[in-house]
Amino acid sequence: MGYRYILEKGHPKSIYSLFPTKISTRPRFGQELFMPIRRTQHTRAHRFDGSNEFLQENKSKIKTFADIGPANSLGAVSTYETRLVLEEGASVYAVDIVKFNKEKAAQNSVVRSGKLRIDSVKPLLHAISAKPLPCQCDAIRVGNVFGWMSAEDIVRSINNIWKSLRLNGFLITKHDGIQRIFKKTKSGFILLRQLDKTLDSPL
Ligand SMILES: C[S@@+](CC[C@H](N)C(=O)[O-])C[C@H]1O[C@@H](n2cnc3c(N)ncnc32)[C@H](O)[C@@H]1O
Repeated sequence: MGYRYILEKGHPKSIYSLFPTKISTRPRFGQELFMPIRRTQHTRAHRFDGSNEFLQENKSKIKTFADIGPANSLGAVSTYETRLVLEEGASVYAVDIVKFNKEKAAQNSVVRSGKLRIDSVKPLLHAISAKPLPCQCDAIRVGNVFGWMSAEDIVRSINNIWKSLRLNGFLITKHDGIQRIFKKTKSGFILLRQLDKTLDSPL
């Protein structure tokens, strides 16, 4: 299928090969949404400042944004930071397999300072590895999430993300310290930018 490939310097390459994983077991979907997650949730503020700059530059094109796996049990700090750079009317979703913690979200500095209301981000309990999002997005970020998945579920997630994005929409990934920005095409994804952890770059 077309969306299995990115076009890099004219040569098709499997997008899946960019996201190696050490996880071999496959969680049972349907149950995991309601079962306690054994892995520790972690995140921090300003983790995605570089990709937020990109989103800000392109904000006129972004009416719907989904942050997949922003650690909703910790208040989805990255999603609030992105909400701040997008236009006022944009819909912004914090998508996770764990429940959204409103008390933690209230502690995010942008909420505490009164720059954003707590309900300016919409929490969504959803496993991207199970099915596409219930909304069509102009940009989707999936940062440090594939490390929680088996190779099979990474493939399913990428396919579901492709289906959840509008044509020319953006996919932002972070995996093994490398951030990438892709654009959805009719037949796949084009890699627009890549930041290696060793490079000093705003991304
Ligand atoms: C390591 S945390 C990353 C947090 C944040 N994105 C960051 O980079 O700081 C991984 C997150 O992915 C979520 N996650 C794992 N599998 C998922 C799935 N199938 N669909 C949606 N979210 C998932 C976890 O619940 C967790 O919040």
